[in-house]
Amino acid sequence: MRGTLALAGAATLLILTALRVSAQSPAVAGDPLPGITPREFQEFRLGLEDFREVEEASDGLGPLFNGTGCAVCHNVPAIGGSSPMTELRGGFRDADGKFHIVGGTTLFQMFSLPDHRCQAVIPAEANVVARRAPIPLFGGGLVEAVPDETLLALEDPFDRDGDGISGRAAVIVDKATGQRRVGRFGWKAQIATLLTFSGDAYTNEMGITNDVFPDEPRGGISEARMRECDRLKDPEDRVDPRTGKRAIDNFEAFMKFLAAPPRGTITDEVRIGEQVFAAVGCTSCHVSTLTTGANASAALDRKTLAAFSDFLLHELGTGDGIEQGAAEQDEIRTPALWGLRLRRPLLHDGSAATPAEAVRRHGGEASGVIERYNRATEPMRRALLAFLDSL
Ligand code: HEC
Ligand code: HEC
Repeated sequence: MRGTLALAGAATLLILTALRVSAQSPAVAGDPLPGITPREFQEFRLGLEDFREVEEASDGLGPLFNGTGCAVCHNVPAIGGSSPMTELRGGFRDADGKFHIVGGTTLFQMFSLPDHRCQAVIPAEANVVARRAPIPLFGGGLVEAVPDETLLALEDPFDRDGDGISGRAAVIVDKATGQRRVGRFGWKAQIATLLTFSGDAYTNEMGITNDVFPDEPRGGISEARMRECDRLKDPEDRVDPRTGKRAIDNFEAFMKFLAAPPRGTITDEVRIGEQVFAAVGCTSCHVSTLTTGANASAALDRKTLAAFSDFLLHELGTGDGIEQGAAEQDEIRTPALWGLRLRRPLLHDGSAATPAEAVRRHGGEASGVIERYNRATEPMRRALLAFLDSL
């Protein structure tokens, strides 16, 4: 009897410990960062509301757009996530291999308003087209809070250490602040801050112009045609007198306070897999952890994030031929691997169905690492994949 009671006591203790641990990390994808203040939570809620809103022509949607709301493309497995859609970019590569913008843009939106006459046109001279998959936004505030110096310290553009890996920081001018910054968002690390990405996405994905991106996307159509299609005065995103915020401020707040994706089950095999991941050199680019700098928000102040990325540009031979921001045609930013099990398909263009396939596609700078991966024993490779499935 006493023995049974003691066992029951131990079980209760275990359950209580488990509860305490899970209270510190987010339980489900889409939760706000643990430990934010009530005021920050309000901003997060307001942001979530705008993020999930479906916009109409009278709100400024169009003439060219890819989606009617942020959540249309960022919703799997929860709002802020990814989705199976891809969008289209294009351009012209000349005989010397130089990239040129055609039709005033590299992004060609899929839909148009008020009707088909306003549809984007890919100019006939375009000889490069590329697909891009959405990137989940979980943990976006943590990524934004990583100091530029941290990313600059990771770069090795001239491969001085001779390991064949030459990550490059994408130094750009941040449109919202006018400051020179290290880009870390987007497949080309083309943007440094969540506010600028909000402005960019509102205009380029939805056609809703704002203070950061005040011009309607051209999508290859003539200015005269654009004047016929676009009747609203820019910028279309105005300050809401009730809250004193623009929609782009609300998107920013939602993403800033969105927690990192929750980790899956960690088994013994997963632990071994993580060691294999480091031993073969995946961590040369998929850097396990980074630390945020000093931050006005305590929830983002000097926090460790396990994003498994250096947020630098690399050439893997998977590049999409588009020059964008500081990124050259064949450079792609190392994607964060957190939340990997929660999203499909993989790679920038959604062309890989599984993590194993994504890994097989790594060439270029990753060739040495992939060689070591291929030489690893079958159980080691299986453990590595189990580790990826736990992210
Ligand atoms: C039509 C689909 C679509 C819509 C609508 C959309 N996005 Fe995205 N989002 C994407 C794609 C595709 C990417 C990758 C873009 C790239 O790098 O070329 C992306 C990337 C992002 C990123 C970069 C994340 C990272 O970690 O690198 C942010 C931030 C973002 N979107 C925010 C937004 C916001 C805010 C809205 C609404 C104003 C929005 N998106 C609307 C498809 C969409
Ligand atoms: C030289 C830098 C580098 C190395 C080394 C590297 N990766 Fe990557 N990884 C990248 C880049 C860049 C991409 C994106 C490529 C693309 O989308 O075209 C990527 C994509 C991925 C993806 C798909 C993620 C997604 O969101 O689509 C997985 C999974 C992955 N890597 C796992 C690994 C594993 C496992 C290793 C070690 C065997 C490894 N990587 C080594 C840079 C690297």
